[in-house]
Amino acid sequence: MKKAKTVYACQSCGGRQPKWVGRCPDCGEWNTLVEEMLKPEGLKTRRGLAEEGSRPQPLASVPLSEGIRLPTGMEEMDRVLGGGIVPGSLVLIGGDPGIGKSTLLLQLCGAIALKGPVLYVSGEESAAQIKMRADRLGIGGAPLLIYPETNVETIVEQIGTLKPALVIIDSIQTVYTSLLGAAPGSVGQLRESTALIMQVCKRSGIPAFLVGHVTKEGAIAGPRVLEHMVDTVLYFEGDRDHYFRILRSVKNRFGSTHEIGVFEMRGEGLIEVKDPSGIFISPASEAVSGSVIACTLSGTRPILVELQALVTGTAFGNPRRTAVGFDYNRIVLMAAILQKRAGVMLDSEDIYVSAAGGVRVDDPGADLALAAALLGSHRNRPARARSVFIGEVGLGGEVRPVASLQQRLKEAARMGMTTAFIPKTGAGDAGTIGGLALVRIEHVGALSDAMF
Ligand SMILES: Nc1ncnc2c1ncn2[C@@H]1O[C@H](COP(=O)(O)OP(=O)(O)OP(=O)(O)O)[C@@H](O)[C@H]1O
Ligand SMILES: [Mg+2]
Repeated sequence: MKKAKTVYACQSCGGRQPKWVGRCPDCGEWNTLVEEMLKPEGLKTRRGLAEEGSRPQPLASVPLSEGIRLPTGMEEMDRVLGGGIVPGSLVLIGGDPGIGKSTLLLQLCGAIALKGPVLYVSGEESAAQIKMRADRLGIGGAPLLIYPETNVETIVEQIGTLKPALVIIDSIQTVYTSLLGAAPGSVGQLRESTALIMQVCKRSGIPAFLVGHVTKEGAIAGPRVLEHMVDTVLYFEGDRDHYFRILRSVKNRFGSTHEIGVFEMRGEGLIEVKDPSGIFISPASEAVSGSVIACTLSGTRPILVELQALVTGTAFGNPRRTAVGFDYNRIVLMAAILQKRAGVMLDSEDIYVSAAGGVRVDDPGADLALAAALLGSHRNRPARARSVFIGEVGLGGEVRPVASLQQRLKEAARMGMTTAFIPKTGAGDAGTIGGLALVRIEHVGALSDAMF
């Protein structure tokens, strides 16, 4: 294909240069030039999502068939997507190398292939390698079309002719358009290739999943341009040392972004974990100081998570705070609140906090549990057996109400907890749930008298 004329546009000031240079001569920023296409002569450059000659149409007359979702056959996946795949939607799935993105999508293909042909485009693995994995996952016989191709024009052509029920692109960083001279994976290539795939998918109502590589900082490599273009962005994450993997949505035009899907990685593939509370708490660590149970809410689902804190005297002048699976800033904040409002001297103590099982806790409702874990480790006393801590802690040390308290308490009772520490205000009529003894805490200062 004829190579289109390109210029280099600065992502910072918008200035254009005929050649790539390391530093933009206009604004002086480094490394901001990205190759962009000029309108090539004689080349069809229509970029709209509708067919040529289409007119604006009344909303009421748009056919609803386009809104019907395709169930994936995987309950956890459906939940994260907001109830199945929306026709014509583009889903970007990112995750660390080797976390299981290809495995997840191949399993998804196996389930969807029963309903219609699925096109699996792979730029990273050969057809034989995919076959090997499919055999291991037990879907070797599924009517899947494997296409080891990286040229986006050829891929788009195949999508147009085959009209599959689902397209997988593994990965978008390997795909390139021959219109640009830049290497695959560069910002210009990513943007153009995704735009071409989006065009064909939206027009024909075919959903597509794109695998995106993630940089060390957590951004999908080739900056965040892709995240704005696609409909849904999912992250597949988990601790490589653990078998559990969590599918989380960070952007979803068709559903909530709070839902998570939990899977377990086994030899025969990813197994859905329908009851995740059990996996993040271990009965053995109950009698250990600094280990407490929180009940976090992910979307509509309450999950019990074990939080562990270790508070030890610092060896150096500057105390350390380290977090695994927990927001670092919340730990610093909680240490400050406990020091100021509850008189717990932590300014010469190292603090390590970890959420067990490789889960990431970002629910403010886990604040009270964090405070309890820190207190427990500081006093070196285990918390009351089979107790759960639910509540948000304000800067004044007050324990604030949390969303869906009833639901969380029900889950705690179901998992065999006997005592629940909850906020005093806003709890409504929590009643007695499954034999749970409720202890209302108004202020973090009252926690140490109640929790041991
Ligand atoms: N036989 C096996 N038994 C158990 N787990 C396996 C087996 N083979 C592979 N795995 C798991 O599958 C993971 C690789 O999965 P996959 O190739 O889907 O990851 P990926 O996210 O697509 O990686 P990449 O970023 O390299 O494409 C391995 O890290 C391993 O955990
Ligand atoms: Mg892969």
